[in-house]
Amino acid sequence: MAFAVSPVPVLAQFEGQAAPFITTPDEVVRRMLQLAQVGVDDRVYDLGSGDGRIVLTAARDFGVMATGIELDQVLVRKSDEAARAAGLADRASFRRGDVLREDISQATVVTMYLLPWLLEKLQPRLLTHLRPGTRVVSHAFVMPGWAPDETETVTLARSHPGQGNSSRIFLWIVPADLRGRWRTEDAGWQLDIAQNFQSLDISAVSGGNRLTVEGARLRGTQIEFKAGRWTFRGALSEGGIAGKISDAGTELPVVFRRL
Ligand SMILES: C[S@@+](CC[C@H](N)C(=O)[O-])C[C@H]1O[C@@H](n2cnc3c(N)ncnc32)[C@H](O)[C@@H]1O
Repeated sequence: MAFAVSPVPVLAQFEGQAAPFITTPDEVVRRMLQLAQVGVDDRVYDLGSGDGRIVLTAARDFGVMATGIELDQVLVRKSDEAARAAGLADRASFRRGDVLREDISQATVVTMYLLPWLLEKLQPRLLTHLRPGTRVVSHAFVMPGWAPDETETVTLARSHPGQGNSSRIFLWIVPADLRGRWRTEDAGWQLDIAQNFQSLDISAVSGGNRLTVEGARLRGTQIEFKAGRWTFRGALSEGGIAGKISDAGTELPVVFRRL
């Protein structure tokens, strides 16, 4: 559904060049929020919120608190007016600001439709300012070096200005930092973890024996891997990586602490 605000031909500044203000088609907005599995406890931030459509859809159709950050004061004012007109002002708010400077640490879901050079500058902030497990969804553009956890193509019912007939969307889950050496309290298990974003390279030693590790997977704070005949599933918390090691007949609770 379209909101009261129509896409005005505002020119936004993109590193020395003016780029046309274009919007995410409504069906893509919806799919971005679905891909991020937005639920009522989420806090959605749209970085570069334009006419406010992602924030308004999140607040109206997903029932969440949503915030837009936008450089252009005119778009912020129009978005605020649209939120009030739709009776969403208690859940949808807009702030004039630069996404490279504003506090985004409260977000549990971040959406973006920004050019690659800006995504590249934003990437370190997303990794350091957002909590592990925060979902980041981008329309059309990816971040350099950080492979998406999921990619989808949305086919549009009709051509959208600046989009053509389809849109690609990308999901990343902010990974916990697991790099280093970890050991169980009884020293029965030791892990050495190297990490490149959500991709893990683990070497495991159990009872003095080096085990082959396969299928290592990190999603936010959730980690799983197979080491020899054992499967580990757990999550990073303040106390360490806590979870269960199991094989066909046994399941043992374990906590790995960082050395
Ligand atoms: C392509 S539009 C996307 C609008 C909306 N998120 C959507 O998907 O329909 C990008 C928006 O980002 C804004 N923008 C560009 N750089 C920004 C920055 N550094 N901080 C905040 N907003 C920015 C532009 O003014 C523009 O409204």
